[in-house]
Amino acid sequence: MNDLDTLVQTARADFAAARQGAALEDAKARFLGKSGRITELLKGLGMLSPEQKKARGAEINQAKAAIEAALQARRVQLAEADLDAQLQAEALDVTLPGRGRGVGGLHPVSRTIERIEAIFASMGFDVAEGPEIETDWMSFTALNNPENHPARSMQDTFYVDVKDAGGRWLCLRPHTSPMQVRYAQAHAARHAQDVAAGKPMAEIRVIAPGRVYRVDSDATHSPMFHQVEGLWLGANVSFKDLKVVFADFVRQYFETDDFDVRFRPSFFPFTEPSAEIDIRFGSGPLAGRWLEVAGSGQVHPNVVRNYGLDPETNIGFAFGIGADRFAMLRYGVDDLRLMFDGDLRFLSQFR
Ligand code: PHE
Repeated sequence: MNDLDTLVQTARADFAAARQGAALEDAKARFLGKSGRITELLKGLGMLSPEQKKARGAEINQAKAAIEAALQARRVQLAEADLDAQLQAEALDVTLPGRGRGVGGLHPVSRTIERIEAIFASMGFDVAEGPEIETDWMSFTALNNPENHPARSMQDTFYVDVKDAGGRWLCLRPHTSPMQVRYAQAHAARHAQDVAAGKPMAEIRVIAPGRVYRVDSDATHSPMFHQVEGLWLGANVSFKDLKVVFADFVRQYFETDDFDVRFRPSFFPFTEPSAEIDIRFGSGPLAGRWLEVAGSGQVHPNVVRNYGLDPETNIGFAFGIGADRFAMLRYGVDDLRLMFDGDLRFLSQFR
């Protein structure tokens, strides 16, 4: 092996030992640079005879070409290694299952309210919503509650320590009944001409679902719960109409004919007569037990006056349904608290 072969081998070994571009360029300078080994050898040619120069020059150029080829090959190798490393660092495992998006669903009470709305809508009832922070006037006074009625007390009702612009105390509404007044007043205003002329006004038929609040908390009472108020007021809407409408609603809601409805005499300041509505199923897990599901009655004349209407010509009934109760009965839930503590193990069953 001559000196040039050795030189080429040394260059190859040095190039192979370079692990990065910078080290490789240093190695290149040692062989091909201005004062590199090849350059030195070429300088030395001047001392040879013309024939020797030709032969030796050709050999040196061959060695130079071999070293350049080795350098180029190593450059390509390093670039590929760089690329591999980068690809590995940025690797994306496209076979990993996606994180997905949780599938949401309506809360059972929301579903129940939607269901109740749809059934009453099919019977021609409008749906109205109103404020949860309500005046005590709307919550009690307009509904014929005497000033000293216990429901007004702070033991029963959450008050807000603020008065409205009209100087009326505010509270969290303890029932949806204020919506009777709000809706009927707005309706009376829309039909003011008929009302003034003593003419029959278009009937009021409305339900008002929503949250209500009371100072009360145990397995069957939550400080926040849901009601659906109903009001049907016309020239002569009677208790008989209430019975028919309510029974029809229960039939549609529970999808069965196998039940009885009972109107149990009761008292509400805003209705006269008043009744609690109980239902009893003839079959199924709840068969044979009377279940209280709503309060109801013929709207009291004083309340009709507070609607802004004449109680002689505007007669009808109102009811207040316990919406949470309806949800529990339909879905077979026996603890009201499950409805409101947000446990996904419970809620995801309703997706
Ligand atoms: N507001 C009553 C309650 O919360 C229910 C009710 C509504 C009773 C309408 C009669 C008429 O208990």
